[in-house]
Amino acid sequence: MADATPFSPVILKHIHEPGSHTIEHYQARGGYETARNLVGTAEPASLVKIVEDSGLRGRGGAGFPTGKKWSFLAKGTGKPAYLAVNGDESEPGTFKDRYILEKDPHQLLEGVILTCWAIQSNHAFIYLRGEFILGYERLEAAVREAKAKGFIGKNIFGKNFDLKVVVMRGAGAYICGEETGMLSSIEGGRGYPKIKPPFPAVSGVFKCPTIVNNVETIAAVSHILKHGAAWHKQWGTEKSPGFKIFCLSGAVKNPGVYEVPLGITMREMIEVYGGGLIEGRTLKAVIPGGLSAPLLTPEMVDKCTLDYESLASLGSMLGSGGITVLHDGVDLMSAVYNTMRFYHHESCGQCTPCREGTGWLEKLAHKFHGGHAHSGDVDLVGEVAKNMRGRTICVLADAAAMPMQSYLQHFRGEFEKRTHEPAHVERLRTPRDEITPTAKRESVQHGAPNVVDVGMGMDRV
Ligand SMILES: Cc1cc2nc3c(=O)[nH]c(=O)nc-3n(C[C@H](O)[C@H](O)[C@H](O)COP(=O)(O)O)c2cc1C
Ligand code: SF4
Repeated sequence: MADATPFSPVILKHIHEPGSHTIEHYQARGGYETARNLVGTAEPASLVKIVEDSGLRGRGGAGFPTGKKWSFLAKGTGKPAYLAVNGDESEPGTFKDRYILEKDPHQLLEGVILTCWAIQSNHAFIYLRGEFILGYERLEAAVREAKAKGFIGKNIFGKNFDLKVVVMRGAGAYICGEETGMLSSIEGGRGYPKIKPPFPAVSGVFKCPTIVNNVETIAAVSHILKHGAAWHKQWGTEKSPGFKIFCLSGAVKNPGVYEVPLGITMREMIEVYGGGLIEGRTLKAVIPGGLSAPLLTPEMVDKCTLDYESLASLGSMLGSGGITVLHDGVDLMSAVYNTMRFYHHESCGQCTPCREGTGWLEKLAHKFHGGHAHSGDVDLVGEVAKNMRGRTICVLADAAAMPMQSYLQHFRGEFEKRTHEPAHVERLRTPRDEITPTAKRESVQHGAPNVVDVGMGMDRV
């Protein structure tokens, strides 16, 4: 795809300017003018078409084409349609949406207004991760400011269109980032995911047609509807057009958020944007798209470009754009244990392969980490992970199994190094080893006398 204009950040352009979160700052740079021009005037279907033509893909993880999703919204149902903006941002290694919420919330609100006009919804929810205190305060203030100006509320921009925007907070559960888990939480229930189909566009919140989109996706909509589909498509690749915010963390000199055209190389991200690896270290692996993404070895990193297709061809995924760089000194068994503890803790428990499988993976990872696994446990890890895939209500089970499978595929030797002969392990074993570390942790919290937390997990005393 031709690079007509050299790229400079779009969504993150103003985040370092003082007062960038206020309505005065936003309007001084032309903010809300696109909404003023299009709401009540432009044919809603024409806006859906522009977003479809732009090739914008959802930035929350799955990369589903946004305009296409909007076109699936059930019509003529006699029920209200809703927009639910996903600001849960719970994928480890991902910290981009919080910059939009904290530093430029009006940009998101303009995207919400335009999206609601395009899909003809009079009611938007914006669901935030509970820990985003500053983001919540700034977004709430932004909603108040926009309401006072008549951009949200009754007859917005003086047109015959009403829009209610409700900001809601979760309580810090990863599963409330999964779209149907989020909708359950918005409804006031536990954040339990629901079986799809029906997809939210047909039956979502309160069983009404609902479009769910990520914060970054909706922020991009404002710019696309201002500049047009061709403008967006001048960057990126044919199947992954446009630009995206990446969150770079781990063993690089300059970790941070970087908005870049899709399709640049992973090496460029690490070496140029990240400033290269920290002094004296070499690359061991990269987690490319949030913790759920299978990791890449250095050889795969050399072949990787930052677009949906390249990552898929390498057996991984672009996901949420959370890139974590691991250096040669990282103890992979410690990383694996930490990862599996997370998924076990966050499983909502509805499906047996996930509830039990994440527990088994945590337990096995704990054995490798603590050096009391035996040789058969290596294959057992692979078996458990395989049996968790594609059998559950949502893909959290896959999100736990996929990285585990990739660690095993690429670093089997590190697992094997931590194993002992079965007889040796048997001598170390007590009935307590049958309990998962999380269960032990819980039993400590409830006063069990003879276990103690030793930092990375629980051990016998
Ligand atoms: C376990 C799990 C956690 C997720 N967490 C988030 C999240 O924090 N934020 C988000 O936007 N999408 C998250 N997603 C993806 C959403 O289900 C959904 O695909 C997305 O919000 C749709 O928006 P998009 O099309 O704009 O990407 C998660 C998915 C899963 C399975
Ligand atoms: S896969 Fe896991 S998190 Fe998802 S619904 Fe089933 S038990 Fe809950």
